[in-house]
Amino acid sequence: MDPYRNPFAPGAGSRPPELAGRDKVLESARISCGRAILGRSARSIMLLGLRGTGKTVLLNEIGKIAEEEGLLVSKVESPETVSLARLLYPEMRRVMRSLSGVEAAKNLAAQGLRGLRSFAAIFKIEVAGVEIGVEPEPEPGLADSGDLEHDLPALFAVIGKAAKAAGKGWILLIDEVQYLSEKDLSALIVAIHHMSQERLPVLLVGAGLPQVARLAGEAKSYAERLFLYPAIGALDAPDAASAVKKPLIEEEASITEDALEAIVERTAGYPFFLQEWASVTWDSTEGPEINLEDVNQSYTETVALLDAGFFKVRLDRLTKAEILFVKAMSELGDGPYAMADIANAMGRTQRSLGPTRSNIIAKGMIYSTDHGYLDFTVPLFAEYMRRQG
Ligand SMILES: Nc1ncnc2c1ncn2[C@@H]1O[C@H](COP(=O)(O)OP(=O)(O)OP(=O)(O)O)[C@@H](O)[C@H]1O
Ligand SMILES: [Mg+2]
Repeated sequence: MDPYRNPFAPGAGSRPPELAGRDKVLESARISCGRAILGRSARSIMLLGLRGTGKTVLLNEIGKIAEEEGLLVSKVESPETVSLARLLYPEMRRVMRSLSGVEAAKNLAAQGLRGLRSFAAIFKIEVAGVEIGVEPEPEPGLADSGDLEHDLPALFAVIGKAAKAAGKGWILLIDEVQYLSEKDLSALIVAIHHMSQERLPVLLVGAGLPQVARLAGEAKSYAERLFLYPAIGALDAPDAASAVKKPLIEEEASITEDALEAIVERTAGYPFFLQEWASVTWDSTEGPEINLEDVNQSYTETVALLDAGFFKVRLDRLTKAEILFVKAMSELGDGPYAMADIANAMGRTQRSLGPTRSNIIAKGMIYSTDHGYLDFTVPLFAEYMRRQG
């Protein structure tokens, strides 16, 4: 069918043609935004799930909803090496600048900008393009302690108060939360807790790998009540089916029941897999009706594309020693895996493998499940490893 009109054209984080099965999450995000603006208690949200399940897409959608609800939106992605202070500084500055244009919020925003200046100095953030005369004198006692758990809540509070005075709110969207250091995550939770206690219109929506739930709980026990934790997983069968079927119908194409069933079943409802398969099938089929033979024929190419892209980019981030570790995992079958079994398979002691294990976890490739087992953060990764021989 016409590749120009392929609705499934791939892209990580790009909005799928049909955002299936996420209505509840979007609705609770809308409610949180609306309540925050009204000065009511509002839950922040942590979107947790494996790779390729649609966290980034949801984060972007929530950003749009928040904007409609009258919140200022900041979106950042945590890289593995940058501190939270550095990551948030430009956004806090942008938001305060924007609020300083509103008469009712002007003084608070100016105070915030002064605090931000001390913050930048004490956290050694180079400030690019400082305009003379615009950057104010520091505000003594605001965000200048050098302790993020103290300074971040203070800055958030000023933003919250200024936003409130302007009749607005602020939503901070952070992708790849698992890469934040323990200290940074802890400070972030303290800041959000403070916002919630003060009923200030500041919300956090984070997205990350499943281990974030435990990391957050370990950082602060109240994190459990502070956030909603909707699990962002594979789509159930009806949702997976509509993710494929609806966009086809919109393009005046169709799919037979058995073909649709094959896709739903063999992708196990994983969004990254659904989109890729549907896309390849679209491009390689005469149409306008896709049948079982069409999807079966495009299966091999789909898997080859995922192997060369989605899966390979993850594997490429590992060292040789780390690759041996994940290979040993995959040869044990599908997860979760007991550390003892992995060590056994590798002919090593658990202790000697400790550093490798930690490094692979830090890279976000494997995680420790609730029961202390290890599993891949990338769905279907064990199968991929076994295909590599
Ligand atoms: N609800 C959904 N229905 C159908 N397709 C979806 C849905 N959510 C995401 N997708 C598609 O799945 C793919 C992966 O989405 P996305 O990049 O948001 O995942 P992610 O969870 O952020 O992955 P990662 O952890 O690797 O960053 C994209 O092609 C996206 O369009
Ligand atoms: Mg993502």
